[in-house]
Amino acid sequence: MERSLQAEWLDGLSAHDPRAVGSRRDLRLINALMGNARLMARAVREAASQAVPRRIVDLGAGDGAFLLGWVRRMPLLAPGTEVLLVDRHDAADAGVVTALSARRLNPRRVQADGLEWLRAQPAEADTWVLANLFLHHFTVLNAIAEKAELCCVCEPSRDWWSLAASRMLGLIGANGVTRHDAAVSVQAGFQGGELSALWPTDSRWRLREHRAGFFSHLFLAQRT
Ligand SMILES: C[S@@+](CC[C@H](N)C(=O)[O-])C[C@H]1O[C@@H](n2cnc3c(N)ncnc32)[C@H](O)[C@@H]1O
Repeated sequence: MERSLQAEWLDGLSAHDPRAVGSRRDLRLINALMGNARLMARAVREAASQAVPRRIVDLGAGDGAFLLGWVRRMPLLAPGTEVLLVDRHDAADAGVVTALSARRLNPRRVQADGLEWLRAQPAEADTWVLANLFLHHFTVLNAIAEKAELCCVCEPSRDWWSLAASRMLGLIGANGVTRHDAAVSVQAGFQGGELSALWPTDSRWRLREHRAGFFSHLFLAQRT
C-alpha cells in the first residue's frame, strides 16, 4: 500500500469539542486493543534495562492515558523524573497528571507543536522521546535524533489488515472523527524499515524496527 498523508479531523478540533473528547476516549480503547503501551514498554526495557532517563518527552501526548499506561510498565523510573506531555492541544487529562505525580514523577503539560518545540529545546542528557500514533504526521525525524538518547515509536502498520480493522471501529462504538482518522492514520503509517530510513544515518545509533502486535509498527532508536 502506497503511503499517503491526509489531514486528521482530531487535529482541527478544540480539545473541549465533544467530538474530540469522544475521539480521545475511543483512542484509549484503540490503544488497549493495539497494546502499544505494553509493546513500547517491553521494547524499551529490553533495550535499556539498566538505563534511567532524567526526562521523558511524549510527543502528541493527547490526554496522556497512553503515557500513564507506559509508565506503569516501567518500574525502574526514578522519582522526580521529568515527564513532558507535549501536544498542540491542551488535552492532557487532569486525572492522568495526578496519577503521574502520585507515581512521584514530575509531569508537565506543554501546549506546542511537537517537533518545533523539541527543536527549540537545549539538548539534555538522558532524554527519552516517546511518540504513539503521532509520527505518521511527519517525514523528518532529525529533531528527535538531535535531542534524544532513546526514541521509541508505535504507529499503525500500513497494511490491508490494519486498514480493514480501522474500518470496523464502528463496532466498538467509535465516533465519526475516530473512524475517519483511524483509516487516514493507517494509510500514513509505516512498514518495513521506513522509519529507520528517515532517521539520520549515523553509526552511533542502534535501530530496531518491526511489525508488533496485530496492528502496530514499532521503531526503537538508542544511542550506543
Ligand atoms: C492520534 S492522537 C494520539 C494521542 C496519544 N499519543 C495517544 O496515544 O492517545 C495524535 C495527537 O497528536 C496531536 N498532534 C497532532 N499534530 C501535532 C503537532 N504538530 N504537534 C503536537 N501535537 C500534535 C493531536 O492533538 C493528538 O492529540
